[in-house]
Amino acid sequence: MCGIVGYVGPEEAGPILLQGLKRLEYRGYDSAGIALLNGSGVQVVKRSGKLSSLEQAVQEDSPSGTCGIAHTRWATHGAPNQPNAHPHTSSQGDIALVHNGIIENANDIRTQLSAIGYVFTSETDTEAVVHLIDRLWVEGEPLEDVVAAALRRVEGAYGIAVVSSRDPGKIVIARNGSPLLIGVGKNGETLAGSDAAAVIALTRDVVYLDDGDYAVLDMDGYRIKDIHGAQVSRTTHEVTWDLEAIEKGGYEHFMLKEIFEQPSSLRDVMRGRLMEEDGDSRLGGIAHHQPNLSRVRRVVITACGTSWHAALLGEYMIEELARIPVEVEYASEFRYRNPVLEDGTLVLAISQSGETADTLAALREAKHRGISTMGVVNVVGSTIARETDYGIYLHAGPEIGVASTKAFTSQLVALALVTLNIGRRRHLSVVQGGGIVRALKELPDQVEKVLELDSQIRSLAEAYADARNFLYLGRGLQFPVALEGALKLKEVSYIHAEGYPAAEMKHGPIALIDEDMPVVVLAPRDAVYQKVVSSIEEVKARRGRIIAVVTDEASELDGKVDHIIRVPQTIALLQPILTTVPLQLLAYHMAMIRGADVDQPRNLAKSVTVE
Ligand code: AGP
Ligand code: GLU
Repeated sequence: MCGIVGYVGPEEAGPILLQGLKRLEYRGYDSAGIALLNGSGVQVVKRSGKLSSLEQAVQEDSPSGTCGIAHTRWATHGAPNQPNAHPHTSSQGDIALVHNGIIENANDIRTQLSAIGYVFTSETDTEAVVHLIDRLWVEGEPLEDVVAAALRRVEGAYGIAVVSSRDPGKIVIARNGSPLLIGVGKNGETLAGSDAAAVIALTRDVVYLDDGDYAVLDMDGYRIKDIHGAQVSRTTHEVTWDLEAIEKGGYEHFMLKEIFEQPSSLRDVMRGRLMEEDGDSRLGGIAHHQPNLSRVRRVVITACGTSWHAALLGEYMIEELARIPVEVEYASEFRYRNPVLEDGTLVLAISQSGETADTLAALREAKHRGISTMGVVNVVGSTIARETDYGIYLHAGPEIGVASTKAFTSQLVALALVTLNIGRRRHLSVVQGGGIVRALKELPDQVEKVLELDSQIRSLAEAYADARNFLYLGRGLQFPVALEGALKLKEVSYIHAEGYPAAEMKHGPIALIDEDMPVVVLAPRDAVYQKVVSSIEEVKARRGRIIAVVTDEASELDGKVDHIIRVPQTIALLQPILTTVPLQLLAYHMAMIRGADVDQPRNLAKSVTVE
């Protein structure tokens, strides 16, 4: 999820492009670059790191031209360094391209073009597209036709913008899965942007491309064609939001935006990775390490915070599907307790940021002992991602809210993909694997259904906003969900909350129950459902106020508890994803009602890079 800006018009494009990139910084960036048609060719300036590095370089190189494109990168393939920064150019440097998204068949294209002499200078998936355009370009053809021909050979998600000195004075943009819009200027200029924030300084009139659309932008305006090459017209919208609202996609906070992004972030985690016929997953990051994985006899998963809750669910998945014993360790504990790590142990580090000091230290301790390490990380090129022997990226896009939401559910899907991959090379049958793949494919739509409960959950928050304590109870796979729900509430609303194994209540904590103690109980229809109903009875008998998260249309709980939140049913291993989302919304709304700083809660940091 990066930022794209394009400009063609009467003014110098450089300053306008940089201003547009500044407006897109919230989309995450680890490098940035621009490309201008300067009358004699394509001039590219790009730098790793913050936008200020690019601004400095542009000041020094002073590229000029009134037609150009620019990009801030949020890496998915290839470390966040200068060679991998966009724009990427053809070998002769006369075509420049920027891209947002993931090209799934990039490796195939790269192999085919390398075999006929194309030289790749980056590790990105994106670079394959610019060389493909070069390869297909027949002299005299308009740029837009060549781009369309190339994109018909591309699989995956993209929002792209292309310029070339072979057909100057125009920008070609195309969209399939990653947002892209046209900014309709008033003084002969036309712009492109990943979202309205990129163009709002010059125009509030925007035209959103549909998936499959491509467009030509030039001094005469713009022309759009659909996937079949037919000229189409798209509605012009007037942007009424202010800039800050646009950065949050119209949501009041990044946390809420990221909660509602989960259907698309889960699709991104799974993009190109599901093999339904084989009941398997395709994971480039571990494909070459199957010999090492086949020798694994024990897994130790280490993480912190929400990622540690994901680790607890990873334990259930790996033991259930791959039949390998798993231990879960707080990273901060693991590194100092002289853990027993014998040959055949795999240490798996889970981290959204890839920079958490405790997790990094635990990982280094495992490597120091000569133990194989794997990473499940969101931020590409982060320290933990670079220091593990192998692993997979979430591809969930930048998570800006301090309270982790979409990263958590993405971690669970990523762990399911890893477990499926390992399990199918051990005891898991193609039928079992196929059932898991089908359940994974249904998840994003099911999360959409849960998000439709937002107003119900907001009303619930109003009823409990003055609570001083909360208990969250879950059993089996729902116990980590209870922990995660409690952590969300604590983090953003500052209400004390505790997650507990449901059956453990009777061993002491039940003394806490009275009419002032709200209790959230995770009670999906699973193997321990009746046991959880018994725990609910025990709480009810002590006048506890109960919010039950269920999967049944109707059950004996309807008359027994104070509130019911119904979520769709899926397989037990994935059910935590659907029971977690209402708890994210509950925490968000409780925090809002209590006036807390939802995106930057007191005392917290998005990435704890100190021990
Ligand atoms: C989760 O909402 C918190 N922000 C925190 O517990 C976080 O999960 C923890 O610090 C680990 O971060 P990481 O996933 O980036 O390693
Ligand atoms: N997949 C491309 C890369 O890793 C684009 C990433 C982005 O959307 O910024 O460079």
